[in-house]
Amino acid sequence: MRTTIDVNGEPRELDVDPRVTLLDALREHLGLTGSKKGCDHGQCGACTVLVNGVRVNSCLSLAVMHDGDEVTTIEGVGMPDRLHPLQKAFLEEDAFQCGYCTPGQICSALGMLQEVEANWPSQETADLTGKVALTDAEIRERMSGNICRCSAYPQIVAAIRSYAGEQA
Ligand code: FES
Ligand code: FES
Repeated sequence: MRTTIDVNGEPRELDVDPRVTLLDALREHLGLTGSKKGCDHGQCGACTVLVNGVRVNSCLSLAVMHDGDEVTTIEGVGMPDRLHPLQKAFLEEDAFQCGYCTPGQICSALGMLQEVEANWPSQETADLTGKVALTDAEIRERMSGNICRCSAYPQIVAAIRSYAGEQA
């Protein structure tokens, strides 16, 4: 089935079986292997990408559902020669060990910060009438869909807090 997806600012034409996930289309058909397959069941967050600015588990979404959508993978966030400030914060805070979860953590954090900016409440939000405060508890709750088997959680929270502080 023919589908055109805007990937990292470039229209990419695909001719894929309708059962192919967005994750497999990115990795196997477009060669963008930054997005990782951890569980393939929506449980680890390693495959998180941004679709029209919203974070999505790409293993749970079919490629053909995204005709015309704008998808940003970690390659579109930043590369070694042009690191995104959040990637720099992960380096500075030592927020990874094996790095397998890191692309998903970073895409998820960028989507999550947009959700906070839009004042979407979470389970941790006590006051639903005011502006959401980006406490560590809020960061942890909102990032709870991204598993890190190396348990770099304190550093991941620190990196996100540091980046968010720079943007404020
Ligand atoms: S690979 Fe998609 S959530 Fe684990
Ligand atoms: S850094 Fe290894 S899984 Fe997170």
